[in-house]
Amino acid sequence: MEKVTAPKIQGAKLENRKISMLTAYDYSFAKIFDETGIDIILVGDSLGNVILGFENTKAVTMADVLHHTKAVAKGVTRSLLVADLPFGSMKKAVSNAQELMKAGAEAVKIEGTKTIEGTKAIIKEGIPVMGHLGCLPQTAQKYKIQRSPEIVVQAKLLEQAGVFAIVLELVDPEIARAVTKAVKVPTIGIGSGPHCDGQVLVSYDMLGLYPNAPKHAKKYVDLTAEISKAVRTFMAAC
Ligand code: KIV
Repeated sequence: MEKVTAPKIQGAKLENRKISMLTAYDYSFAKIFDETGIDIILVGDSLGNVILGFENTKAVTMADVLHHTKAVAKGVTRSLLVADLPFGSMKKAVSNAQELMKAGAEAVKIEGTKTIEGTKAIIKEGIPVMGHLGCLPQTAQKYKIQRSPEIVVQAKLLEQAGVFAIVLELVDPEIARAVTKAVKVPTIGIGSGPHCDGQVLVSYDMLGLYPNAPKHAKKYVDLTAEISKAVRTFMAAC
């Protein structure tokens, strides 16, 4: 299968091809996901919740994302590997993005439009950037559906800045539809309805591994139950 690149993801919208994206945080999961043919693997700062057990993503550091990006990069050959720029990292936008690329990322993701000048500076250095609008976990007080039409304006701003795709998190489905229509770059939704150009999930949520998964995250398998069963079988055999 052909290597996925940022321009190919951007082109998927024109070809009417839906984009699939999952998070990964280590070598073994990354290798499994890559071999399925999934388009994008994201080293999300959701690692703060599902790996480090924090309540939110604010405490995730550059060192955390670098550590997990290096591990994931070892398992990825075909999918596009995107890494999150964590909370506070846009103060040194370009050098932090470059560090993530050195660790094996092939693009970076940035939340919101408040640091748009940093986003532009990163793109100017030739690093592909994925935007992220709607609910922004790095700064949100509460996770709730975002209904402001301002999101359409923000999406256009990101498109003009040169992002290759935009994640829409917890955006009202009709607003997500309007954004998807308004921009030429693909939208990738999470809890934002069916009208986006692709969908993303946190892998630990969809695999049934994270005990505090949000309601909007569909569980495709209950790995917690499977693992408990396997461990009990092992204990009985000890
Ligand atoms: O950090 C993350 O996992 C994300 C996804 C929710 C898109 O940003």
